[in-house]
Amino acid sequence: MKILLLGKTGQVGFELHRTLSPLGPITAPGREQLDLTNEQAVTNYLAQTQPNLIVNAAAYTAVDAAEENQQTAQRLNASLPKQLAEYAKANSARLVHFSSDYVYPGTGSEAWQETSPTGPLSVYGQTKLEGDEAIEQSGADHLIFRTSWVYSARGNNFMKTMLRLAKSKSELNIVADQIGAPTPARLIAQVTTLAIHSQLKTGVYHLAPRGETSWHGFAQEIFSQARQAGEQLSIGPENAHAIPTSDYPTPAKRPLNSRMALNKLEDALSIRLPDWQSQLELTLGEYLEN
Ligand SMILES: NC(=O)c1ccc[n+]([C@@H]2O[C@H](COP(=O)([O-])OP(=O)(O)OC[C@H]3O[C@@H](n4cnc5c(N)ncnc54)[C@H](OP(=O)(O)O)[C@@H]3O)[C@@H](O)[C@H]2O)c1
Repeated sequence: MKILLLGKTGQVGFELHRTLSPLGPITAPGREQLDLTNEQAVTNYLAQTQPNLIVNAAAYTAVDAAEENQQTAQRLNASLPKQLAEYAKANSARLVHFSSDYVYPGTGSEAWQETSPTGPLSVYGQTKLEGDEAIEQSGADHLIFRTSWVYSARGNNFMKTMLRLAKSKSELNIVADQIGAPTPARLIAQVTTLAIHSQLKTGVYHLAPRGETSWHGFAQEIFSQARQAGEQLSIGPENAHAIPTSDYPTPAKRPLNSRMALNKLEDALSIRLPDWQSQLELTLGEYLEN
């Protein structure tokens, strides 16, 4: 299997570079070798390397900035996956792609199924949805994993921001009415690798840990676990205050309900996804060791 991995410097791509390595030789161009905004360069690269598995972890993930930079978000999140899917269809290759809870409208309190109606609230969500739809319509063999609230020991993410703020501030206000599941990049990479190896059937799957929390609940667990691990923090669960989304305006609107049902993926792979708290312990432990 000749694997092309895109986005190797990102949170998920970094982990995939490691977990995919037993499956075959990996070509993983960075931005300096292949600018993914350049459609012709991508066409040439695919023709040269002729992969039979493309794993696309590249994306435009700056949710607020996407409201301004619509063209770049559209290219990376929608037209790039379409281009990769067209290559996959024409060359009998498989495309593995990542999408987001932000494709759903965020209403209600039930968990979304993969078949639930979509209704993105932001440019980021809209462009991610366009990418998913283009892949599905291409007829290419594909796996699309919709995940949520990605974090890792590397990169910019909520866990690292909270730990930094907890060393410099004495009070914090954190949104408590957006509900979802924080997902470590490593878990995404591990399950993706298992899915590829198991030849998981083409389709869209939710991929996140079990359980649910708010950003406020996630922050409290970060502070509590970090203190247990011996970190000196000026903020603990007691001075992290819960606020509604309406008190924290952002350029892009976020869904309140990001719960995603996991049974399709669990049943197909015969696995049980771990809970988000134990996953935080592993990721936090890795971060604090470095
Ligand atoms: N982050 C989240 O909370 C979240 C939530 C749900 C779903 N997802 C989805 O999960 C997937 C992985 O997300 P992530 O958090 O790992 O993303 P990330 O850390 O932001 O990484 C994005 C990757 O894309 C690359 N990239 C962006 N523009 C490029 C360009 N013009 N040319 C070449 N490479 C380019 C980046 O390269 P550079 O390092 O050079 O910039 C980086 O390797 C994405 O599909 C995302 O939509 C993420």
